[in-house]
Amino acid sequence: MSSANKSTVEEIRARFDNDVERFSNLETGQSATMDAPVVLELITRVAAAQCPDATGVLDIGCGAGNYTLKLLERLPKLDCTLIDLSQPMLDRARQRLEASSAGSVTTLCGDVRDLELPKEAFDVAMAAAVLHHLRDDADWKQVFTKVFQSLKPGGIFLVSDLVAQDVTAATQVQWERYGEYLRNLKDDAYRQTVFDYIEKEDTPRSVLYQVDLCREVGFQQAEVLHLNACFGSFAAVKAR
Ligand SMILES: C[S@@+](CC[C@H](N)C(=O)[O-])C[C@H]1O[C@@H](n2cnc3c(N)ncnc32)[C@H](O)[C@@H]1O
Repeated sequence: MSSANKSTVEEIRARFDNDVERFSNLETGQSATMDAPVVLELITRVAAAQCPDATGVLDIGCGAGNYTLKLLERLPKLDCTLIDLSQPMLDRARQRLEASSAGSVTTLCGDVRDLELPKEAFDVAMAAAVLHHLRDDADWKQVFTKVFQSLKPGGIFLVSDLVAQDVTAATQVQWERYGEYLRNLKDDAYRQTVFDYIEKEDTPRSVLYQVDLCREVGFQQAEVLHLNACFGSFAAVKAR
């Protein structure tokens, strides 16, 4: 399916507006994402290792705030800037963060492609399960450039997401493996529901496409952190 037939931003917003409860529960809410708890732990540990004195985090597509909440366990009192298309998601994230050790909480409601970000403002930028909604190369480059510019020198960008593959044989095998995972989790109907939804809504890119793009927009170092079937995560660091 070409990008032209994919869900619109409004359709994506409406779906997430109605899915706040699910995304507020990491144990059960993200079971369709392989290795979700492992990657949450990994990303937040690497963020804290790179920036132990961090004062500001940007969470893109924050949902109900799972990643920032987890990061606050390692880096309490962070000032948190949260971006999401969905105001109900932001409201829930704010509620959960204000009940935790967060410093200030700033919410920005909108499409990350349209929002302006402050320059050199954050130590850590995270984007979990959101960038697969970006469509063409220009979208990806624009967002990665914006994130790069928003980070302080020495800052780190961490992504975990549904990913594509660039080798046809790998595409076939990795999606088969993801299908087997979904079938084992529930049944074949569930596998089909998830695959149909991905076909309608998502335009993922490979981990290496994204790592290359990080280097292209100026990040000095980039590193794959985890890859399992159709889920990948990586980190990229801005030079000090
Ligand atoms: C699958 S949820 C993941 C939430 C959270 N990052 C987590 O891992 O728990 C994706 C979130 O990204 C938001 N989103 C999708 N497209 C977006 C865009 N273009 N700009 C900003 N937020 C977006 C959705 O509203 C949703 O809350």
